[in-house]
Amino acid sequence: MFSKKLKWWQSGAVYQVYPKSFLDTDGSGTGDIKGITSKLDYLHGLGVNAVWITPVYPSPMVDNGYDISDYTAIGENFGTMNDFDELMREAGRRGIKIVMDLVFNHCSDKHKWFRESKSSRNNPKSDWFIWRDPKPNGEPPTNWRSIFGGSAWEFSHERQQYYLHTFAKEQPDLNWANPEVRYALYDAAKFWLDKGVGGFRVDAITYIKKPEVFADGKPDAEDGTVNVHTMTANQPGILDYLHEFKREVEGDNDIFTVGEANGVKADELALWVGEEGVFDMLFEFSHVTLPLGKAEIWCHPVDWKLTDLKRAISDSQKATETNGWYPVFFENHDQPRSVNHFFTEGADPVKAAKVLGAVLLTMRGTPFIYQGEELGMTNYDWRTIDEVDDIQTKGQYELALKEGFTPEEAMKFVRYFTRDNARTPMQWTAGKNAGFTAGESWLPVNKNHITVNAETEMRDSKSVLSWYKRLLELRRTNHVLTMGSYREILTDSEEVFAFVREYEGHEVVTAANFSMNAVKLPESLTGRKVILSNEKEIDMEELKPLEARIYQ
Ligand code: GLC
Repeated sequence: MFSKKLKWWQSGAVYQVYPKSFLDTDGSGTGDIKGITSKLDYLHGLGVNAVWITPVYPSPMVDNGYDISDYTAIGENFGTMNDFDELMREAGRRGIKIVMDLVFNHCSDKHKWFRESKSSRNNPKSDWFIWRDPKPNGEPPTNWRSIFGGSAWEFSHERQQYYLHTFAKEQPDLNWANPEVRYALYDAAKFWLDKGVGGFRVDAITYIKKPEVFADGKPDAEDGTVNVHTMTANQPGILDYLHEFKREVEGDNDIFTVGEANGVKADELALWVGEEGVFDMLFEFSHVTLPLGKAEIWCHPVDWKLTDLKRAISDSQKATETNGWYPVFFENHDQPRSVNHFFTEGADPVKAAKVLGAVLLTMRGTPFIYQGEELGMTNYDWRTIDEVDDIQTKGQYELALKEGFTPEEAMKFVRYFTRDNARTPMQWTAGKNAGFTAGESWLPVNKNHITVNAETEMRDSKSVLSWYKRLLELRRTNHVLTMGSYREILTDSEEVFAFVREYEGHEVVTAANFSMNAVKLPESLTGRKVILSNEKEIDMEELKPLEARIYQ
């Protein structure tokens, strides 16, 4: 059932870098490519074999690079193409592949394609974007609300028409129905393939196919709008485009692709991944969007139950058991820090980070570690909306006020869920600005950098960083962790996440106690040999609060 030969990206681990917040080498206050290159030894020492960098292309940076104005160049704020080539060379010398981010649903309104498209109704690129006439009363064509808040339509005086933007108005959606658009995008991907990149993360891919008919939807907000996601995500026929993408871009290249597929459910995964599917892996979000229902984004994160998390992961494991491969992740640049997401205040953040690390790095699939996760970085203590930079947070804050929440209530949401929680500077040292920049940092630095930082943790065998290194080493040397099957045990427990990995008669078992109570262990575990624990003293009968243990 399990292929004996794993591909390089199936047996390895990926590290995600958010370049703007990783390391600044020129004192500008924002990170750059040279900063990534200078930390390759650190990443090599950690034990990853691929680094996914979020967009470093030219961009007005309205959405921090996800608004691209040139697909085949490097943004000045990040450095030069020479810097990129050097990064590729130096990474290659250490056996690390660089993975690029393809943002193909939309580009920047400053991209020459859009400027041309906007200039008239009959220029050669006039239908490269999604243009529609106003309603007879001049209003936008539909009541769709963009994901970042406000109408999903923006009026252009030149054309006297509206264009669609799923995200910010500075991110017009490209028209995938036009083959010229699709092939221009594939050419951009090929440019980076020619440079030898190891793969692509493909952004916001569920939005590329638009519905046949554009109609108003049932409002889900006080202002009469409906989230564009409800109306356009995952349209029938989307996979046809993506099969073409796979043929044209992946072909026989020894790369991996991972799609960001908001809205795809576990039972649909088989269509999206594997031999018959379109990507090698798919990021779906069922396990990180846990508090469900209308109150989703306003909820306090303690509302979720451990069994929800376990079920979400186990369902996706099942769906990719014989077909495709699973990207394991708890964090990325859009999520709050996982320690805050999955634990209540009062939980020891170091132990909590190790509990999550144990699950992340012993699960079946390819682990994706987000910068700082390996240090146990936590959310920043946001006080006012002015401290926040993120365009989405600002839009949702406004929406919350419109919905009748008080500014204090809206701030409560911001504190837990702002994407800037993941974007505060990487904590390298206990020194000024956590060693991130010699200039003025673009986002505040978390005060806990005094103890939570790479330099200090490197010297401490009990740090989160040392725990990650040990687990990654175990993964490299114990084939059960890469090749083995996955079976959840203690399924009903609201305290312990436990699972068995099995390969050719050998087993590795993970038991991670997410609770602040000691938990009695079943007999099936008490007789096993413990190979790793985040506690010094081991009681074979029970797990200590926030103890994570790996058995053979
Ligand atoms: C994806 C990215 C996010 C970005 C959005 C629009 O969800 O991860 O950061 O804002 O797409 O490109």
